[in-house]
Amino acid sequence: MMALTTKEDLDSIKSWLKKGKAVALTGAGISAESGIPTFRGKGGLWEKYDPEIFANAEELLSTFRQKPERIVDFLSDLYSLLLQAKPNPGHFALAKMEEKGILDCVITQNIDDLHNLAGSRKVFELHGNAFHLRCEKCFRRMGLDREKLADLINKMNKYKNSKWKLLRLFSQFFPKCTCLARFRIDIVLFGEMLDYDILSKANQAVNNCSLLFLIGTSGVVYPAAQLPFAAKEKGAKIVEINNNPSELSYICDYQILGKAGEILPEFIK
Ligand code: APR
Repeated sequence: MMALTTKEDLDSIKSWLKKGKAVALTGAGISAESGIPTFRGKGGLWEKYDPEIFANAEELLSTFRQKPERIVDFLSDLYSLLLQAKPNPGHFALAKMEEKGILDCVITQNIDDLHNLAGSRKVFELHGNAFHLRCEKCFRRMGLDREKLADLINKMNKYKNSKWKLLRLFSQFFPKCTCLARFRIDIVLFGEMLDYDILSKANQAVNNCSLLFLIGTSGVVYPAAQLPFAAKEKGAKIVEINNNPSELSYICDYQILGKAGEILPEFIK
């Protein structure tokens, strides 16, 4: 592994890009410059909310029964960040790379929808998308209107201390599917299975790429963190872009220490 500092290194990555298609695997770091603090970083969501509770379906339900206001606070904090966030130059550079035919797809662990908003077309969202609803039984999905979502957050705060009013609000907002199960927010919680189809397409993409950009992820959450190993095994070069070394730095061929929003635009020059 080498920390990239010179123009020669950049040229060598660019020459690899010409040998075949690249894939980008992104994590919370790419959205940090859009104003969404990373999960495990300072000021991140997991500093204020214990992920053992707030990223776990059963614990979320039992917290709702005992202290519904905690769930309202969590959802308000999460969505106030997500609703105001706009794609940054890092997201736009990846969309441009796809348009130019250099990048095959983006595989992301993020739920913030920012790759789609930036114009990336082939995006595999391993952990779901906070702006979609998904049927908990048949996995049918539908988009969530951003204005309706903002309205839900406002109403939730108004009814914060009444479990029954909140339940009525939720039952209106999360309709029943044609299969009769209920829709929920399309986010994969800890301990839940990833969507099989999305994960297999992500695996297929890394197995066929010549270069994998590993961007803004701590590399501690599986099965996402296994994808770079699969790419490497098939001979792809791994280029890490992160402002700090990660758990996966040791398998990377190049390491570019810095902000994704400043580094990625270099590849479309
Ligand atoms: N540019 C590049 N990298 C950055 C930047 C930046 N501007 N800012 C922070 N980073 C890096 C951090 O150094 C860290 O390695 O982004 C990484 C963010 O790590 P995490 O907070 O652990 O986020 P992520 O790896 O996406 O988490 C994976 O864990 O909590 C679950 O489901 C959640 O999808 C999430 C998964």
